[in-house]
Amino acid sequence: ENTQQKALIDLHEQSVKLYHHILTNTKMGQPALDYLHKRGVTDQTIATYQLGYAPAQRLLKPFFDERKVDFQLLRKSGLFSEDQDGNLRDRFVDRVMYPIRNGSGQTIAFSGRLLTTDSDMPKYLNSPETDIFNKRKVLFNLDLARSNIRTGEPAILFEGFMDVITAFQAGIKSGIASMGTSLTEQQIYDIKRITREVVISYDGDTPGQKAIKRAIDSFNEQKSNLVMKIISIPDGMDPDEFIRKKGADDFKQLIDHAQAPVEFELNYLKKQYNLDSEIDQTNYIAEALKLISRVDSGISRDLYLNRLADEFSVAKQLLQQQLAPLIRQPA
Ligand code: CTP
Ligand code: MN
Ligand code: MN
Ligand code: MN
Ligand code: MN
Repeated sequence: ENTQQKALIDLHEQSVKLYHHILTNTKMGQPALDYLHKRGVTDQTIATYQLGYAPAQRLLKPFFDERKVDFQLLRKSGLFSEDQDGNLRDRFVDRVMYPIRNGSGQTIAFSGRLLTTDSDMPKYLNSPETDIFNKRKVLFNLDLARSNIRTGEPAILFEGFMDVITAFQAGIKSGIASMGTSLTEQQIYDIKRITREVVISYDGDTPGQKAIKRAIDSFNEQKSNLVMKIISIPDGMDPDEFIRKKGADDFKQLIDHAQAPVEFELNYLKKQYNLDSEIDQTNYIAEALKLISRVDSGISRDLYLNRLADEFSVAKQLLQQQLAPLIRQPA
């Protein structure tokens, strides 16, 4: 961490305080505070995560100018956008502010959310890449979740940081999230360093299901010895909605009934086929056998094979014959 990085982090820490003050202590912040309360976010959670509000009028630029902060440093902070004449303006305007912290708990970026989604602007606006922020390296909440994960709670990987925050508020304190990107090698590496078990809990909608498939593939590519489990949130809800509606105990039930990756993949695969058609049935079975062939345990493979044989009323022996050459021999 060099001098400039320290200075950039310092700008962020000051901004956190300012945004938080606007949210919690001013009339300007009231609509944002109401928004958070309506979402069920408590004052304690607002304090824990130092949530804030970037008002409709300029805030950071006059604040830092008054303190004679170096223009080039401000430029590099990502907290401002630059107009054609080279003037800096607050990047975040009229947004609920979520500080993004690194693994050491230092704030290195922000994500700002609109209070309503009936505009053409993106719902979430993130800080750009800077000297201190690379969104492909960040796992949201890792600093708070790490100790809980180390003491045996499974790491729960969410899609959005609101899912992490709602889970944390409900007492499920081992949640982490990537920053709206698919999982990167670096993030998987960081997860592997602290746990042997990860529960993937993405949104119950179609993009969420696709993202689960991608995450399973990424974990598999890195040949991690990680045990993966998959939660399916019902009715297209995301974990935040589910926990608010059903409570933490029901969410823990979902964890207890989490699927093995291959079960999720078989279900996911099945949806790509029209199983009324015999050709599709044959193709599905061929692809399903490939998935089953990658399961390490012979007993598990046998269980999935039984299910497949039952499901399509085909002879198990036939499936076994097709499966055998697909199984990777241990080196
Ligand atoms: N995201 C983003 N930009 C968007 C939409 C989403 O960067 N315009 C990222 C955010 O990091 C967000 C994640 O993708 O946390 C998941 O997206 P989504 O499920 O749409 O967000 P939610 O967490 O459900 O947000 P909310 O409940 O506030 O609508
Ligand atoms: Mn209120
Ligand atoms: Mn989503
Ligand atoms: Mn969501
Ligand atoms: Mn949501």
